[in-house]
Amino acid sequence: MQTLRTAAEAAQAARRLARPLALVPTMGALHAGHLALVEAARRDCAAVMATIFVNPLQFGPTEDFSRYPRAFAEDTRQLEAAGVDLLFAPSVEEMYPPGFDTNIDPGAIATRYEGALRPGHFRGVATVCAKLFAIAGAECAYFGAKDAQQVAVLRQMVRDLALPTDIVVVPTVRDSDGLALSSRNAYLHPAERAAAPGLYRALQAMSDAVMRGETNRDRIVAAGRAHIAGPLREAYLDVVDPSTFEPLANIGSRSGPDVVTAIGSAWLGETRLIDNLALNVPAAAERADLHASVT
Ligand code: PAJ
Repeated sequence: MQTLRTAAEAAQAARRLARPLALVPTMGALHAGHLALVEAARRDCAAVMATIFVNPLQFGPTEDFSRYPRAFAEDTRQLEAAGVDLLFAPSVEEMYPPGFDTNIDPGAIATRYEGALRPGHFRGVATVCAKLFAIAGAECAYFGAKDAQQVAVLRQMVRDLALPTDIVVVPTVRDSDGLALSSRNAYLHPAERAAAPGLYRALQAMSDAVMRGETNRDRIVAAGRAHIAGPLREAYLDVVDPSTFEPLANIGSRSGPDVVTAIGSAWLGETRLIDNLALNVPAAAERADLHASVT
């Protein structure tokens, strides 16, 4: 695996890799979730380029940019073992040299949920991803379903700007108790870690409610809220259209999507967890059967 620090060298090396080329952008502190992206990329494509860059543009002024976990030596070893061909790991000055002054401004989708709690976050994500896409010139870029709103923002960016990189989504990797892997889980104290799977259970309860034929958003969210207990404090729970992240008042309405996403976020001390589950909405006819079988 070749490791390069400048955009010019990385772009040149990427152009020489086999096609199709996959790009796997990360902020490092790698875990099995990141490695699942590399594995999928390896399987689908002829060459893989990974990036490690803790992107200051996507962190708010009071967020954890300076204390975000960094583990470069161990990350490099894992990427090499996973079969990555090229690693691009630029400095902040390399990505944003003096005079850098262009940003990508995602629209309405970036104003809700994560966007509301982290103003400017998706602007930073979209800007860095557009730049990484341009440097890599890859046919595909791999992202985790764990960050479903990030995926929706990037898909909209690719569509709106006709970028020549397809977004590929890889399922969320979880610990055995259901907690979605995240670099930020390292911040959790033992008691917080023990409570953390409550968020996944909340999403499962919302999913079960939908599968039972519940269509009312408030009742679905209430089913989830029952699991946000103890040290967990809700930031948001909702059911949304996965491509627009608009809340859905009535799940399973004729005009609505067949697949919806239950999204959730909860605080544990200073750390905020996020997670989501995609749900296939039972068709109206099936719901009638479900009701018939319980009454
Ligand atoms: P980071 O948090 O390092 O995540 C890099 C990629 O790994 C993202 O696509 C994320 O969704 C995916 N990922 C994280 N945890 C996962 C899990 N448990 N299962 C599956 N995939 C998982 O997301 C970012 O970095 C940044 O915003 C980035 C896209 C690199 C732009 O700076």
